Amino acid sequence: MNRPATVSVRAPAKINLYLSVAPPAADGFHALSTVFSAVSLYDEVRVSDREAGAGIELRVSGPQAGGLPADESNLVHRSTVLLAEHVGRAPDVTISVDKQIPLAAGLAGGSADAAGTLVALDSLWGLGLDRTALAELAGQLGSDVPFCVHGGLALGSGRGDRLSAVLARGRFDWVLGFAPEGLSTPAVYAELDRLRAARRGTAIDGLHDVLTAVRHGDPDLLAATLGNDLQPAALSLRPELRPALRAGAEAGTLGQLVSGSGPTMMFLARDGEHAVTAAAQLSGAGVFTGVKVVHGPVPGPRAHRLPG
Ligand code: C5P
Repeated sequence: MNRPATVSVRAPAKINLYLSVAPPAADGFHALSTVFSAVSLYDEVRVSDREAGAGIELRVSGPQAGGLPADESNLVHRSTVLLAEHVGRAPDVTISVDKQIPLAAGLAGGSADAAGTLVALDSLWGLGLDRTALAELAGQLGSDVPFCVHGGLALGSGRGDRLSAVLARGRFDWVLGFAPEGLSTPAVYAELDRLRAARRGTAIDGLHDVLTAVRHGDPDLLAATLGNDLQPAALSLRPELRPALRAGAEAGTLGQLVSGSGPTMMFLARDGEHAVTAAAQLSGAGVFTGVKVVHGPVPGPRAHRLPG
């Protein structure tokens, strides 16, 4: 028997260069104004055909797989069911996910896997859906999933799911610092609401400056304009990460910020070489379980059909 058709995609993590959060709406969600960048830290999603009626088989492996259920609650499973229902076919596939992006880390790892699954299945099933159609479906899976379908650099509004492309020049080099334990996104938003009620939260207002910095590809300018309203909340829940900001400055990085809802910290370097030196220093700072040099923006997931 021939080997089943297999499609592989690499799905990048995201960071937020700017994340401004409005007060919660009646549905509990917060309107955002955010600049997303996909970065060169990837999970790999592989999908293969299974015999008719066999259903979904999901396997999760890799250094960051720990604790991630491979059941129906997994976003990969949910995206497979959603796409199959959308096009009226049975979801008979084997899916394997190689997790390199840490869980609950503010890097949209689960959203990246969901987006990667949609792109991979579109190719495996020969659906010919474009990114806009996939991103529309992706909005039903989570606020960050539409951006993860597109990748690159984009401005997000609404829940973060309404996107417009942003012009960027060149690339930016970063060091990511991983914390020992993840943070729950709803808990971080709730902490921001609590801090603001006590008049201790921020409300940043520098979107125009961030867009100028990325348009010029200028890391010094970008460092001066990075901002994240969720940072005080993440640091309030994880005060042990505060020394990381100082460690980043001591390592000579241009800017230091919590990534998304945290707890991953992101440090902006002058260039790739500087990022490698800063990473070496930060890995010895005693705050992180691991550090990783990445760059962005990078393209979103692209499907590769493997020889059968
Ligand atoms: O959309 P997603 O499932 O990623 O959101 C997870 C949680 O983060 C939501 O349940 C909500 O508590 C919070 N959230 C929010 N406002 C947003 C996005 C997420 O309050 N714009």
